[in-house]
Amino acid sequence: MDVLGISCFYHDSAACLTRDGKILAAAQEERFTRKKHDPRFPKNAISYCLREAGIKGQDLDYVAFYDKPFLTFERLLLSYLTVAPKGLRSWLEAMPLWLGQKLHVTKTIKREIGYEGEVLFTEHHESHAASAFYPSPFKEAAILTMDGVGEWATASYGFGKGKDLILLKELHFPDSLGLLYSAFTYFTGFRVNSGEYKLMGLAPYGVPKYKDLILSELIDLKEDGSIRLDLSYFDFLGGLKMTNSRFSKLFGGPPRKPETEITQREMDIAASIQSVTEDVVMKMVQHVHKETGQKYLCMAGGVALNCVANGRILREGPFEDLWIQPAAGDAGGAMGAALSTWYRYLNNERSIVEGYDSQQGSYLGPSFSNEEIKAFLESRGYTYHDLSPDNRSKTVAEHIAQGKIVGYMAGRMEFGPRALGARSILGDARSKDTQTVMNLKIKYRESFRPFAPSVIEEKAPEYFDTEKSSPYMLVVAKVREERCLPQLSTDGMPMLERLKVERSDIPAITHLDYSARLQTVNKSHKPDYHEVISEFEKLTGCAVIVNTSFNVRGEPIICSPEDAYRCFMRTEMDVLVLEDCILFKEEQPPWEEQEDWRNELELD
Ligand SMILES: [Fe+2]
Repeated sequence: MDVLGISCFYHDSAACLTRDGKILAAAQEERFTRKKHDPRFPKNAISYCLREAGIKGQDLDYVAFYDKPFLTFERLLLSYLTVAPKGLRSWLEAMPLWLGQKLHVTKTIKREIGYEGEVLFTEHHESHAASAFYPSPFKEAAILTMDGVGEWATASYGFGKGKDLILLKELHFPDSLGLLYSAFTYFTGFRVNSGEYKLMGLAPYGVPKYKDLILSELIDLKEDGSIRLDLSYFDFLGGLKMTNSRFSKLFGGPPRKPETEITQREMDIAASIQSVTEDVVMKMVQHVHKETGQKYLCMAGGVALNCVANGRILREGPFEDLWIQPAAGDAGGAMGAALSTWYRYLNNERSIVEGYDSQQGSYLGPSFSNEEIKAFLESRGYTYHDLSPDNRSKTVAEHIAQGKIVGYMAGRMEFGPRALGARSILGDARSKDTQTVMNLKIKYRESFRPFAPSVIEEKAPEYFDTEKSSPYMLVVAKVREERCLPQLSTDGMPMLERLKVERSDIPAITHLDYSARLQTVNKSHKPDYHEVISEFEKLTGCAVIVNTSFNVRGEPIICSPEDAYRCFMRTEMDVLVLEDCILFKEEQPPWEEQEDWRNELELD
């Protein structure tokens, strides 16, 4: 039985197809349309899922949508009435979209994919919860979801047991940890719904001097982790902005304008809101543990991408283990809707092998065969060389060890915001220059965040303070003390200089606070990537490399060989690996484009 889950029309559209409860395919629409966070109907992602399953739209048994638009409509209407006539402008802006598409989801689905059957609707947080629990390696576990807002819910908790999933309680709009974090994302000059990770990365530069102010003025934090926002500081109910002048007054001036200099104030604000967020999350987690009595915890929703908070949950307990849906944001709702249909609506049994999740490394997107890749390269006249199975990994590792920047595309594309070695740019973690080179020559930005490391799973404890695997790059851990260099004070140094100070023997991935957002690479999930890092270790003695997403700033991660080649030629990347083909920059024909591509991409 084939079930298609869809999430769209808000942020980051996606589709996921399950067959008899097994996840066959999942992908975000942005990867195909090349428009970051594309919220449109995921036509391309759906076509891909159907292709992977070898079926047509009319063959689907069920289609499930990840949220209930009428309930969201009700929330918008009531929010407007609460602040009327103040919210009229945002109301008028939102309405045409609502009346035009969101309330006609069923019609759109039937028209776009030629499906005749029933369209089911799961609630937003139910979708998040299902995406967290059903693919997890646990027979039973507590569930916690946290995001900006769904229909009404902004957080929920409950538990899963076998095929059953029960949500016990919800926190409701406008009281939302996700919206609170986004308000600070806006105030510090980053993009809401995409720059939250930057705010988190900025936190180690500051001191949490506004923490008490946030706790006393902006929110009322209860023992169970629920919060109430003081709405007199926020503008998201009726206005078009997140915060208002009262908020600015509290933090000593107006919001930072995007792309302007980041000052100590923003760093201190980042440290403060990060610390508050961790406190709230820890309180929620403790409460969920007390209420459910479960040993394990599953999480999803945008806030579950806060890997610093996740690292604390893992280290400090009380849960013994944690599993987070890698596509924790709304894209993952497509998977949750499909799985919820299979287990909750159709009442099918769930069997798992304890200790193994069914997310398959999150390698759930399209792949391209060597034949397809060669046909593409030859049709364009691009020069490539074949890599044989016995020298492939060694050759790639040698280039990385020589300080080259290597674009690496192999196997099925990742589902979720992180590149996990299927669509990644790789570099040498031992070199202190890697950060600067990758930022300036590849990403065309300066960054205050270090890159993330990929480490062979079995070697992770030699490099990081962690016993647990982290296959989806969703938790941070400290670099082991014996690898760290003595702490030097960098106070007073310009921000970007502070990051360049060497802090460990893997400086390219070590943050100011000696933490790293690591990916542990599992041999059975990703054998090719595991082998590349193993060969790198044989050459250098180091089982860690730099892994950053294969894209330039503002662009979605690449999907196809064509996207990969374009990104390779637009940047100063040295080497490109497409499955078993290797390309060198100096052998390629000159790359010409009509327009400056940098103008096409939005700032992220
Ligand atoms: Fe959500």
